[in-house]
Amino acid sequence: MESTPARQAFQLTIARATSVQILQHLDACSAQFRPPLADRVDLPTYAEKLFDQSVTFEAWCGNVLAGLVACYVNEQTQPASAFVSNVSVLAENRSQGIARRLMILCHDEVKRRGVQVISLEVSSDNTPAIRLYTQLGYIKMTNDGGKLGMQLSFGRKMTVGEAASLSMPG
Ligand SMILES: CC(C)(COP(=O)(O)OP(=O)(O)OC[C@H]1O[C@@H](n2cnc3c(N)ncnc32)[C@H](O)[C@@H]1OP(=O)(O)O)[C@@H](O)C(=O)NCCC(=O)NCCS
Repeated sequence: MESTPARQAFQLTIARATSVQILQHLDACSAQFRPPLADRVDLPTYAEKLFDQSVTFEAWCGNVLAGLVACYVNEQTQPASAFVSNVSVLAENRSQGIARRLMILCHDEVKRRGVQVISLEVSSDNTPAIRLYTQLGYIKMTNDGGKLGMQLSFGRKMTVGEAASLSMPG
């Protein structure tokens, strides 16, 4: 009788990864992005920026950074806002629910910081990622040259003033 491979145990953490570990992870995942991440950004600069400016949500298989969600939180806006800059899981660790769990951890953390709306961008041909975000409740807001803008609103409805300030140019 064939046995199915056992699921690996992984540990979730927040803001533990170093910039070097982030870079190693992005480098390993780059080719799986559409288009490849390294075609769009300088990976060492991007890894440093995520380390310095984002909140990172991490899944570890032993000492290996298997999954990474990185989110910028702006607590200066009214209400606080958040943007998911990166979602990636090593090819060998996919389809184990890692991305979903990291996104839920991210949502819990940004809600705790008062964020009402979280947004992200995804290539319109990235079916796995779009399915993931749609299952989590994100809705498509914009479609700009093959790139979808998606948003998830938490709980409280915005006041008329807040909604107006978001739609004002500049
Ligand atoms: C997209 C990605 C992060 C998903 O990571 P993952 O850990 O394998 O995802 P999960 O196991 O948590 O799956 C959650 C949901 O995502 C969707 N999904 C994940 N892999 C999928 C696939 N190959 N095909 C279709 N849907 C898929 C499904 O909706 C899945 O839910 P289900 O299992 O109930 O069907 C991963 O494929 C990846 O790193 N891709 C390359 C980088 C990238 O494109 N990132 C997104 C940039 S916006």
